[in-house]
Amino acid sequence: MKFDKNNYEVKELTLENETIRYRAFFNLVYVEKPVNIAFQQMHIFAPEIYYEGGEVNGYRLKTAPVFMPNQVGGYMPGDLEQPGLSKFETDKVNTIFRALAHGYVVAVPAIRGRVQKDEKGFYNGKAPACIVDYKAAVRYLRHFAKELPGDEDKIITNGTSAGGALSSLMGTTGNHADYEPYLEALGAAKERDDIFGASCYCPIINLDHADMAYEWQFQGVNDYHRMNMQMSEGGRPSFTPVDGVMNEVQIKASREEAELFPAYVNSLKLQDAEGKMLTLDEKGEGTFKEYIKELVLHSAQKALDEGKDLSEKKWLAIENGKAVDMDFTAYVKDITRMKTAPAFDDLTMDSPENDLFGDAATNCRHFTKYSKENSLAGGDMADEMAIKMMNPMYYVEDQGAAKAKHFRIRHGERDRDTSLAISAMLTLKLRNCGFEVDYHSPWDTPHAGDYDLEELFAWIDAICK
Ligand code: DHB
Repeated sequence: MKFDKNNYEVKELTLENETIRYRAFFNLVYVEKPVNIAFQQMHIFAPEIYYEGGEVNGYRLKTAPVFMPNQVGGYMPGDLEQPGLSKFETDKVNTIFRALAHGYVVAVPAIRGRVQKDEKGFYNGKAPACIVDYKAAVRYLRHFAKELPGDEDKIITNGTSAGGALSSLMGTTGNHADYEPYLEALGAAKERDDIFGASCYCPIINLDHADMAYEWQFQGVNDYHRMNMQMSEGGRPSFTPVDGVMNEVQIKASREEAELFPAYVNSLKLQDAEGKMLTLDEKGEGTFKEYIKELVLHSAQKALDEGKDLSEKKWLAIENGKAVDMDFTAYVKDITRMKTAPAFDDLTMDSPENDLFGDAATNCRHFTKYSKENSLAGGDMADEMAIKMMNPMYYVEDQGAAKAKHFRIRHGERDRDTSLAISAMLTLKLRNCGFEVDYHSPWDTPHAGDYDLEELFAWIDAICK
């Protein structure tokens, strides 16, 4: 592994009437023995004024936080990225530009994804490659910390969806021995890989329980409306509309998955801020459901306080400007179902997650007992360790996993890619174990990320200063 501090370019870029001057260290290969060199390297950017002794926002060369966004979507390969226009909303300036303008050092790793193969045709980006690469990139930052810009103790990861999942894993699995053999095989630096803060937008996590959580929320709604994903290498998904009604097998799966959820929630022994146990009875009713309703009501209340008119939301009871109650079933009908049951461990193994859990020689596998037993594709089961290493829930209580000091989790109020219960369970588990989580479900927000950069940066500044 190499880092040459004299090998850089100074760049200037003006977008939306704002000019940034920055030093760019390009194409830093972050492991000694890469298996996919194009996707095991990163770019590092820093405001050039730091090298002239100046400051931005009160930060200097060695005090600026290191913001580390990943570009992963759909568990596909995450590309290298530079300051510029947003890849998906090309009328917008991207997060990297904004973060540099705000004074952060920005480290952008490429990360392997589920479709990639070596020259012999063996897959080399299946789980847990994505999280292993992210960790290796952090270890590189620590290894060359003295020569790199930024404060190595203020590394903050950021990502959306599958990328949000990776950020949550970075925040929960620091330095854990499970990942060590993989890091060692790649020749990652022998350094810590724990981080200071994790920013996670709509994390697609807890994949081995996401099917049951989805059906707990969406059961009874049999029609689905979605955009089918077409993935291009390194890109985020592009979509075409698909509408339909679930078939009998899917409706049966929906009922059976929903029945599995209460036992799982109850096993987590979650508590709210007052210490009340959050549980579900066999019908899926109980204090945990009331808690999820509170999250939606809180979302609505914030929107009301900002002057939004929510009178069209018939499932919402508003009295004197207060969101006081909601009809959960009507809310779910209103946001509509996106995925057929089982939503993640597909019985025909056609989901991105089946593909994620393949191995060198197998493209797709199952990762839940239910779908393995009910498989329509005769699929194999993924390795237990790979499933564990992709799920932050298993590491929250594990003393061997260093946790981030701060988490920020955002999950849009009308996100249908995964149940609201999923991010809520991670938030509760972390809080119950004493870790700080800033959680909010933004009103009328679908599956998306980086939509509130001013607030995100305010959070980063508050935890770093
Ligand atoms: C993403 C979205 C999904 O619905 C999913 O199952 C996995 C990943 C994504 O956008 O990253």
